[in-house]
Amino acid sequence: MAKKPAIIESEINKSKETKETISSKISDNKPNKNGVEKEKLDNLTVLKKSPYLKNSIKNQTNKTKYSLKELFEKNLLSQNEEKMQIVLSGQYEEALELIYEADASNLYPILVGPPGIGKTTLCRYYAQSRAEITGNDSFEWITFDESTKPAHLVGSFNPATTIQKGFSFEAFNPGPLVKSMLNGGVFLANEINRATEYTQNSLLEPLEEKMLSIPHLGRIKASSGFFFIGAMNPSELVGTHRLGEALKDRFNVWIELDYPDKKTEMKIIEHNNPYYKIDESILEKIYLIINRTRTHHQIQTPASLRSGIALARLSGVAQSKDGGQDPSKILKDLSRNVLYGAIQTKPGVKVNDVINNIISQVLG
Ligand SMILES: Nc1ncnc2c1ncn2[C@@H]1O[C@H](COP(=O)(O)OP(=O)(O)O)[C@@H](O)[C@H]1O
Ligand SMILES: [Mg+2]
Repeated sequence: MAKKPAIIESEINKSKETKETISSKISDNKPNKNGVEKEKLDNLTVLKKSPYLKNSIKNQTNKTKYSLKELFEKNLLSQNEEKMQIVLSGQYEEALELIYEADASNLYPILVGPPGIGKTTLCRYYAQSRAEITGNDSFEWITFDESTKPAHLVGSFNPATTIQKGFSFEAFNPGPLVKSMLNGGVFLANEINRATEYTQNSLLEPLEEKMLSIPHLGRIKASSGFFFIGAMNPSELVGTHRLGEALKDRFNVWIELDYPDKKTEMKIIEHNNPYYKIDESILEKIYLIINRTRTHHQIQTPASLRSGIALARLSGVAQSKDGGQDPSKILKDLSRNVLYGAIQTKPGVKVNDVINNIISQVLG
């Protein structure tokens, strides 16, 4: 953590260097003790080689400078341009099958599991899969919290246009639920139990009758294909409300997701780290560190899939910088940076103590 500002500062200083000095640095590498040439890269070179940065570097050299409007249009992705792939084994395969069955039975499922377990990913993938038969990949979602109002779901009227044209469809900015109902698409209601009872109740009509009242405009019926998926953290977690009885009754298919089995989680980490390959043994250590946070008696909120993915990517980059470094040592250092904010310890327990404890248990 504390290291970060120093890295940024040195990056800024180095950004003044010319291309020639960077390439001369690379060729400066000396053979190590065993006489094997180990490539050592400086920070700026690593950044330059990063596949995540490749496009913007190319744009820079082409001297193309886009305005914000051009960037907006360029980046406005149509959903079907990005075909997503996910890891479908273990619980994800079973959950996907149940979502299909719920959809085919005209029932609404709800996914229950901790944050970062893959609920959104699975729903997005489902929306894409069913598009193969419906030709419609519409996927909308909202994440509820205590301040979410029914208008965030339904939409609102643009004041200026409403003054000109009155309460008409032209003056209306449809919310995600209206879009989804009109498109006959998949709607994901994330953290649905965090919504207030008032907001939860506004979902009863769409769920029961596939209808929705839009103030001033009237009542719309959902186009065929509209499919509602709920998602929530298990209700015993702090900061969540109960799911109201009436709404609970509208969900008839309960799908529980938990942290995946070892094989599946390792596959997910690998899948999300496409550019910097790491050894199987390091991958396993990453899994063991992350998994340990889930069984540790001093941890209240453990690390999610995202932490394992972050650790894998960072380790991959660090290894590509200096192939001579011990990968376990790299992992040891980086674990602190990833886990620090990713876990929540029980009251009175210092986060760094727990991290050190886990690192020494897993890496020795
Ligand atoms: N089945 C999977 N295959 C590949 N990646 C996954 C899978 N499930 C989750 N992920 C990855 O894990 C991370 C967290 O998943 P996400 O769907 O956002 O979790 P949640 O919605 O439960 O908080 C994302 O980066 C996602 O890419
Ligand atoms: Mg999510």
